[in-house]
Amino acid sequence: MSSVVVVGSFNVDHVWRCDSLPAPGATIIGRYSTGPGGKGFNQAVAAARSGAATTFLCALGEDAGGAMARALAGEDGFQLTAEGSDQPTGSGGIYVDAHGRNTIVIGPGANAALSVDFIQQQRAAIGAAAVLLAQLESPVETIEAALISAREAGVLTVLNAAPANAPSTIGVLKHANILTPNETEFAALLARHVGERIEADDVATLDGGSLHALCRKLLPDGTVVVTLGAVGVYVSHADDALRGDSQAYYRIAAEQVQTVDTTGAGDAFNGALAAALADNPAAAFAQHVRFANRYAALSTELPGAAQSMPRAADVAARFGG
Ligand code: RIB
Ligand code: NA
Repeated sequence: MSSVVVVGSFNVDHVWRCDSLPAPGATIIGRYSTGPGGKGFNQAVAAARSGAATTFLCALGEDAGGAMARALAGEDGFQLTAEGSDQPTGSGGIYVDAHGRNTIVIGPGANAALSVDFIQQQRAAIGAAAVLLAQLESPVETIEAALISAREAGVLTVLNAAPANAPSTIGVLKHANILTPNETEFAALLARHVGERIEADDVATLDGGSLHALCRKLLPDGTVVVTLGAVGVYVSHADDALRGDSQAYYRIAAEQVQTVDTTGAGDAFNGALAAALADNPAAAFAQHVRFANRYAALSTELPGAAQSMPRAADVAARFGG
């Protein structure tokens, strides 16, 4: 029985490290590497390395990228169940600058073919989980089907509404018990679904009460966790569902680490949060967020996406148990 089921994308990441991100029209020289990525896969690796029995549901092409995904899931000891596609396996082009900041373009490929039918076939696996975790690099109707099937079985749902320009619907959001956008995704969701215009750069500086009001508009019955990068994390609960916390909203500061690459830091956070929730659903939510925050911070000290995910023991060794 799996305790975390992740539904989402796998990409082969092509990464160029450069001093600064290329400007339009510029040609610059960088250092190239390639490795496993995709928000879904990164989150599954993070959940597995955090200690959760993990299943990853995805779509792969019949190519070297697909074979890489299967082999690496095996090495990390989690179950990967893939829908086959005649499209190439997904890919990501990533530039990382000297500060560890990135810009990413993805080519969904097979990820765009992850179907509602395939998810329906996986209902038993989804229903047996403690937590279902999904993102928006797969078709929104497929993600909605996964969330609905989890909710029907009483499985806790976490939706990482990334990337920011992915199509989303109120339909998909409302099936999330917990929504985890970063500041850019949060601003995009507010503009699209609530008609509130706020600059992504201003999200972190809003006072807690104002942010709480916006979160309540976006997801009236659920928890919203806004990840704010180097600023930390903001949590807002529905007033009648505090998930073991004593406050309806609060911030947790970022940990001080030696960041080299933030690629996949959001994925690290989500995978670790799902694993922690699955492991001890009764514990205060803030305790899980603190673990996920530390886990994500540590992931930024290594280059790459899936490859940079730490283990639960690394988090304990660095920050205490
Ligand atoms: O969140 C980081 C990930 O976004 C990368 O691995 C890339 O593949 C894109 O999915
Ligand atoms: Na990283």
